[in-house]
Amino acid sequence: MSSFVTLSTGQRMPLVGLGTWKSAPGQVKQAVLAALDSGYRHIDCAAAYSNEQEVGEALALRLGKALRREEVFVTSKLWNTKHHPEDVEEACRTSLSDLGLSYLDLYLMHWPMAFQRGKELMPRREDGSVCYSDTHYRNTWKAMESLVDKGLVKAIGLSNFNARQIDDIISVARHKPVVNQVECHPYLSQQDLLAHCRSVGVAVTAYSPLGSGDRPWASPDEPSLLEDPRLGAIAHKYQKTPAQVILRWHVQRAVVCIPKSVTPSRIQQNLQVFDFSLSDNDMILIESFNRNERFIVPAVERDGKKVWRDAEHPYFPF
Ligand code: A2P
Repeated sequence: MSSFVTLSTGQRMPLVGLGTWKSAPGQVKQAVLAALDSGYRHIDCAAAYSNEQEVGEALALRLGKALRREEVFVTSKLWNTKHHPEDVEEACRTSLSDLGLSYLDLYLMHWPMAFQRGKELMPRREDGSVCYSDTHYRNTWKAMESLVDKGLVKAIGLSNFNARQIDDIISVARHKPVVNQVECHPYLSQQDLLAHCRSVGVAVTAYSPLGSGDRPWASPDEPSLLEDPRLGAIAHKYQKTPAQVILRWHVQRAVVCIPKSVTPSRIQQNLQVFDFSLSDNDMILIESFNRNERFIVPAVERDGKKVWRDAEHPYFPF
């Protein structure tokens, strides 16, 4: 099978890329080097990960040397504090400068909600609540379209958008979104969103494709996807690791995935998913593990009911 998807712009986006969220400064440079040296041609970044400078140091050691710039697909993301149309180009230029690049292959709006403008990544009130701003994502999108016109980015896309919000963007877009990047793994299979994205020509990238066991708020009583014995049994059958089975499941459904690792042996292992295929029955079996379990936006208890944190915000996606 092919190791990339073709986007609506005609760009070829590798199905497996290196994720850099949670990769600590001091570790991410080596991770990117290990990835590029073991054959990765896709690195997923974001300003909000606060490590783009170090990713850039690694890219500088390989691009224009062992690798041509055009050989590597680089994504970055516009953070929520930069949604105001006047802030968009500067934010993009900061990511370009940190990454040491003259263009991005893909620039995503990280979330539909805008935060208060400024330098603070998570502007909060004294009571801990987030300070939002009322910039509508449609206006942010218009500013992102100018980045394509100016040649700063080859394509633009979305992240954490629901079906209605994607349609809303498409209805005003001059440059269509090529990708929606969302949390997706066997416990959150995103079947409906995937079908919707397919029907409107938007590719899907899975973040937390392995269930993000290293998310800072993980609690011991939450299920660990990588340790699910049902995946262990499938992995045993194919003589692969549970991580490889999950990643193969993603790519076999044509979902781009960006496993994060800072461990060279795992980084290598995570790309070794094109030398076997899961049977139709095993694909269906893994799909049946879905429990709509969202790890990334933890739920809070309110009045005895489980609600999503921030769910009262009008642009909240879930
Ligand atoms: P580490 O970075 O220490 O190697 P996700 O991509 O879903 O966010 O998951 C990232 C987590 O999964 C990290 O804790 C990472 O650990 C771990 N991980 C990545 N690849 C593998 C693998 N092949 N086997 C086991 N754990 C992995």
